[in-house]
Amino acid sequence: MADLKKLENDLVAAVAAAKDDTALEVVRVSALGKKGVLSELLKTLGTMTPEERKKNGPLINGLRDRISEALTAKKNALKQAAISLRLTADKVDVTLPVRASALERGRIHPVSQVIDEITAIFADMGFSVAEGPDIETDFYNFTALNFPAEHPAREMHDTFFFSPSSDGARRLLRTHTSPVQIRTMENVKPPIHVITPGRTYRCDSDQTHTPMFHQVEGLVIDKSSHLGHLKWILEEFCKAFFEVPSVQMRFRPSYFPFTEPSMEVDIQCDRRGGEVRFGKGDDWLEILGCGMVHPNVLRTCNLDPDEYQGFAWGLGIDRIAMLKYGMPDLRMFFEADVRWLTHYGFRPLDFPTLAGGLSS
Ligand code: DAH
Repeated sequence: MADLKKLENDLVAAVAAAKDDTALEVVRVSALGKKGVLSELLKTLGTMTPEERKKNGPLINGLRDRISEALTAKKNALKQAAISLRLTADKVDVTLPVRASALERGRIHPVSQVIDEITAIFADMGFSVAEGPDIETDFYNFTALNFPAEHPAREMHDTFFFSPSSDGARRLLRTHTSPVQIRTMENVKPPIHVITPGRTYRCDSDQTHTPMFHQVEGLVIDKSSHLGHLKWILEEFCKAFFEVPSVQMRFRPSYFPFTEPSMEVDIQCDRRGGEVRFGKGDDWLEILGCGMVHPNVLRTCNLDPDEYQGFAWGLGIDRIAMLKYGMPDLRMFFEADVRWLTHYGFRPLDFPTLAGGLSS
């Protein structure tokens, strides 16, 4: 009979030395497989005399059982070790601060945000967006808008002119978004409901003026729109934009060459405490100009003033952005200072919608 003690020691050592499942399987096959040492030993029982079998049977079977148990125990130990290893490798330190992605760190400029807010409000009322060039001709910026030649209003606008071209015509940077009224009426058959947000330019610079600034123009042309409609539209706009349930507005007579009658609009506010609040208070703040489109302007665009009528308004975007978001100095808007933008900018994927709340 083989030396069972040594065999057991060898097998136990082999089981202990197995580093993974594959190695352990090799040991198992070498011991308990069809041709394994223990299986061969068991087969020898059949060739023994009854007395030998009685003595050796329990020894060999006992050995087989112990090796079998050792294999199972080792298999479980390997499994546990693999799980622990995986747990350590996959460990996430939840106390680490989240590093913001580039998409998270980027900011939308308040002017872009406010343009999106204005567009969302007017789109909800059925307006579409019209655009025109920043570099305009004298005709679109002034003449077609009923500014008489040499009229002082042309000077009032502090226009940036380009050098005259060979034909003597001087192009200019548009001083307002009103030329897009003309371009729209020339190209679109009424009814017209458009807004035009865009850049405008005037030679002016202080805390509330920059040489480049933004306006939004509104234009409605059909056969029956009147001042009552204009008033309602502007009131609804102010409530939606400033996110207040009600607002008082004051329409004062004014003068613009392209509207008759012309008005300036003040909005009720409260300026106590150094902050401007809308929807309450007994102070007034001028926010826009408006009026009924002048018959001469309609005629220039080949629209018969006896058939068509409508109204227009122009509003300074930067100014209402400053008011809504409490930004004190307009010049900072265009300094490209990342610290300012980080503070006042908006998160890139928070699109303003009326349903979702414009600024939340
Ligand atoms: N274009 C004018 C400006 O820049 C603003 C304005 C006033 C626009 C009245 C209009 C309007 O459409 O009807 O001062």
